[in-house]
Amino acid sequence: MGHSLQGTRVLVLGGTSGIGLATAQAAAAAGANVTVASRSSDKVGAALAQIGHRASGTSLDTTDDSALEAFFEKQPEWDHLVVSVAAGRSAGLRDMSLQDAYGNMNAKFWTAYKTAKLARITPEGSLTLVSGFLSQRPNKDALLQGCINAALESLGRGLALTLAPVRVNTISPGLIDTPIRAAMPADRKKAMLEHAATTLPARRVGQAEDVAEAILMVMTNPFTTGSTVFIDGGGMVA
Ligand SMILES: NC(=O)c1ccc[n+]([C@@H]2O[C@H](COP(=O)([O-])OP(=O)(O)OC[C@H]3O[C@@H](n4cnc5c(N)ncnc54)[C@H](OP(=O)(O)O)[C@@H]3O)[C@@H](O)[C@H]2O)c1
Repeated sequence: MGHSLQGTRVLVLGGTSGIGLATAQAAAAAGANVTVASRSSDKVGAALAQIGHRASGTSLDTTDDSALEAFFEKQPEWDHLVVSVAAGRSAGLRDMSLQDAYGNMNAKFWTAYKTAKLARITPEGSLTLVSGFLSQRPNKDALLQGCINAALESLGRGLALTLAPVRVNTISPGLIDTPIRAAMPADRKKAMLEHAATTLPARRVGQAEDVAEAILMVMTNPFTTGSTVFIDGGGMVA
């Protein structure tokens, strides 16, 4: 039987939107005391209103090394920690400036690496990273995103050894309908989601809650560590 989340301290970096927010809500519903963090104080406030009374939140830019260090220094041990911070806009090799490319790697990969280095997690606890199935299925229009996700999946496996007995796992989502595509033109987004819903073996578009459910599974299953779990509606085999 999995560990209970009742009364545990759970931190979700990037927990104010999409997959992170759904994870924070699911953990709180399972009895955890949840803290969410992201850059925008408005998003933190809105997320706390949705998660409920036991939740707390803070504005934190995880690309700011000193702010991240100061945050973890002040905090007692966490039971479970989830990193669901998004990188910036994806683009192909020739369409993205080097500055944006470095920024994306910084936001997504280095956030996870630094968090593993700085956070204190109880020995029975867990660290869960969120990558993405482009790690295995490269897309020329999101070349770097695939590389970042592959690096994260490798990091998760290595950390399972480095941080043991803390369990470390990576959840690798396929296409999930979250605010990550808020800037995409509505008609393009609609066409993309409709295409996914008709072609994926699961015949539906992924929801943040589908991914959150898998995150809670790896958080609480005491024999799961070093795993990468694909929640992609069959996107990898399609
Ligand atoms: N949705 C998909 O289709 C999909 C597919 C594969 C993988 N993923 C991965 O899943 C993860 C979560 O994605 P999502 O769809 O849930 O995205 P989302 O809804 O845009 O949420 C991203 C979260 O990251 C926070 N964030 C971004 N930069 C940050 C920074 N520098 N410091 C702190 N927080 C920061 C955002 O809040 P602020 O803006 O307030 O900082 C937000 O809470 C990402 O790593 C994404 O690449 C998503």
